[in-house]
Amino acid sequence: MKIQNMTLKEGQELKVRIKPDDNCISFSINIGHDPDNIAMHFNPRFDYGGDSNIIVWNSLSGGCWGDEQRDAVFPFACGEECKFYINFNYEQFYIKLPDGSMLNFPNRLGDVKYQYFDVRGDARIIGLKIK
Ligand code: GAL
Repeated sequence: MKIQNMTLKEGQELKVRIKPDDNCISFSINIGHDPDNIAMHFNPRFDYGGDSNIIVWNSLSGGCWGDEQRDAVFPFACGEECKFYINFNYEQFYIKLPDGSMLNFPNRLGDVKYQYFDVRGDARIIGLKIK
């Protein structure tokens, strides 16, 4: 699901509530300029491509994936709504996970404003708020 007309700026906090499907395999939260230029691809994999219960991050530049970052934490469950707080600066993205732990991923595109936001895969957006 793509959100139209949303601009995320450095220093703002995005709160996103997401409900993974009952039989969720994988979902992702994507922030960037357009579908080919994504600064933050945050991808909890419940059971996808040989991965289970792991978070995979990456960036996509001109349609090409960069190097993955993997974090072996997984405070998610199929069918259970989860809340994320996301903010960023020109260097890093920071995500507070549903269990309160924090993860970060480098802002490889290095911009301080992004206009593209979507959630893909087996989950739906329940709520979005920018502060
Ligand atoms: C691929 C997957 C993409 C994306 C990417 C991240 O294997 O098909 O959806 O998650 O990994 O590196």
